[in-house]
Amino acid sequence: MGDSTEREQRLNRVYAAQGTDDIEQIYDEWADDYEEDVFTLGYTVPGVAAGFIGRHVPPGGKALDAAVGTGALGDILRVLDYSDLTGIDLSEGMMRRARAKGAYSDLRRMMLGEPLDFPDDAFDACFSVGVFTEGHAPPESFDELVRVVRPGGWMVFSVRADVYENGGFREKQQALEDEGKWWLVRMSDAFTMFPAMETSHDGRIFVYQIS
Ligand SMILES: C[S@@+](CC[C@H](N)C(=O)[O-])C[C@H]1O[C@@H](n2cnc3c(N)ncnc32)[C@H](O)[C@@H]1O
Repeated sequence: MGDSTEREQRLNRVYAAQGTDDIEQIYDEWADDYEEDVFTLGYTVPGVAAGFIGRHVPPGGKALDAAVGTGALGDILRVLDYSDLTGIDLSEGMMRRARAKGAYSDLRRMMLGEPLDFPDDAFDACFSVGVFTEGHAPPESFDELVRVVRPGGWMVFSVRADVYENGGFREKQQALEDEGKWWLVRMSDAFTMFPAMETSHDGRIFVYQIS
């Protein structure tokens, strides 16, 4: 509930989070209002990511939604015939909302940046939107995400444009390519993540294929 300024303040709170306990608490508390807030502010990222997923990733496989939140991406992907979706997130409150949607076959609490409780090559694809941003998951998260996607599988994710440049993402993504772990299929143009905000950050979608 609230006006646009209050919604923007709630959104900006997560960027200022101090560590994982803080971010977990903020998202647990925000879960019931999260979608109304971000979609009122015009949140574009799941929709743009779904476009790239539909262009590159054949439906029918087993996919991981990393930092699933309330399941906004799964809501779209279900309509596009991506039906075998597993979600992970650090916030049980956010995942409770995702669970209620019925778009995910499995939802489990796991932390990006730490070892993931999945075997190697467990998924045909991994999608992740809205979490590679300030104060959230680190670039090292990709080591584990790459491990759990099979060779030839796909990774499609967003990175906030300024965080890509200044938060170590550009270097980490290039290092994984240099190590032969994945190759870049597509980096999108920068686009506005929250068009109804007075000052919105830009985001980019990246599409990688696992080697
Ligand atoms: C902006 S929301 C995005 C949620 C959803 N993907 C979307 O687009 O609506 C960020 C999500 O990342 C989760 N998150 C933040 N840091 C995380 C981490 N290190 N590991 C796992 N989840 C994390 C939060 O709990 C929250 O649900």
